[in-house]
Amino acid sequence: MIVICENVTKSFGSFKAVDDLSFQIPSGICFGLLGPNGAGKSTLIKMLYGANIRSSGTMTVLGRDPNVESHIIKKSMGVVTQDNHLEDALTVYENLVVYSQFLGVPKLTRHEKIMSLLTFMKLDHKCHAPVRTLSGGMKRRLVFVRALLGDPEFIILDEPTTGLDPAVRHLLWDKINELKSFGKTILLTTHYMDEAEQLCDHLVIMDQGEIQAEDTPKNMIERYCPGYLAIIESEMGNPVEEVDIWIRQRLSGYQIRALSLEALHQYLKKHQLEPKVIRPSQMEDVFLEVTGRELSQDA
Ligand SMILES: Nc1ncnc2c1ncn2[C@@H]1O[C@H](COP(=O)(O)OP(=O)(O)OP(=O)(O)O)[C@@H](O)[C@H]1O
Ligand SMILES: [Mg+2]
Repeated sequence: MIVICENVTKSFGSFKAVDDLSFQIPSGICFGLLGPNGAGKSTLIKMLYGANIRSSGTMTVLGRDPNVESHIIKKSMGVVTQDNHLEDALTVYENLVVYSQFLGVPKLTRHEKIMSLLTFMKLDHKCHAPVRTLSGGMKRRLVFVRALLGDPEFIILDEPTTGLDPAVRHLLWDKINELKSFGKTILLTTHYMDEAEQLCDHLVIMDQGEIQAEDTPKNMIERYCPGYLAIIESEMGNPVEEVDIWIRQRLSGYQIRALSLEALHQYLKKHQLEPKVIRPSQMEDVFLEVTGRELSQDA
């Protein structure tokens, strides 16, 4: 196991940001941590590399306790933190050299390593630009490069693709899949449910510091939102719930769900409803079902 957490709690005063959490991350998988803003994801992640000291419970990361051996753990771990934590006055290259030195990347291979990762992330043209002159998305890409410098065994990605344009997001997905194929273990948080569904082997949905659901993306969909759904505008009236038809009111309108596409079409026809969209259920629907809130609402 790469990570073992047992009954881990983190309190800030009387507030529990992470509340009695237990889970394990086996080697070689992409483990997704989902949850609304304020759910406790980053607080948990910071405990994994010792930036937050847990209040209670036990935790091992790569076989060590991050409360006491984070300096060793960090050498085999790459972290894309939610905040970039870059040296703004230094150039892209200088930032990476400083970090390579911290990690002990051999001087002989350092330049080649930095340049190949910068090229992959399409940042090589900014190599000698001061970090403060980069766009938000470029800074995110640089943090991703920094996380991979030490060829880490375990990679933590806290919202790595937030603020990236779709092309770069896909580039990053390719890299994550490549890392997976090399047997690396990845912990990913994201607010993009399609990303979670595509990249993650196992998902945990957190809310208010606690785990609300845990399974593979496929099983989650089958358990919480099986079948198909239609979305109709709220002006279209108040739809009636029938046997094997589930209706949820969302900000975007009404969601009408059925196990089969045929049953859904029958219902829509019977009530003369014209849907905006008909599609199979997705992780986004599971998220709303499990957390009971829209994506834009805070915990
Ligand atoms: N240092 C701190 N002192 C006090 N409260 C904190 C501190 N760090 C986090 N919190 C609180 O803990 C809760 C969880 O925050 P956290 O950053 O872990 O959420 P998150 O799930 O990462 O959210 P997001 O999706 O917005 O990144 C929030 O209510 C936050 O205000
Ligand atoms: Mg966070």
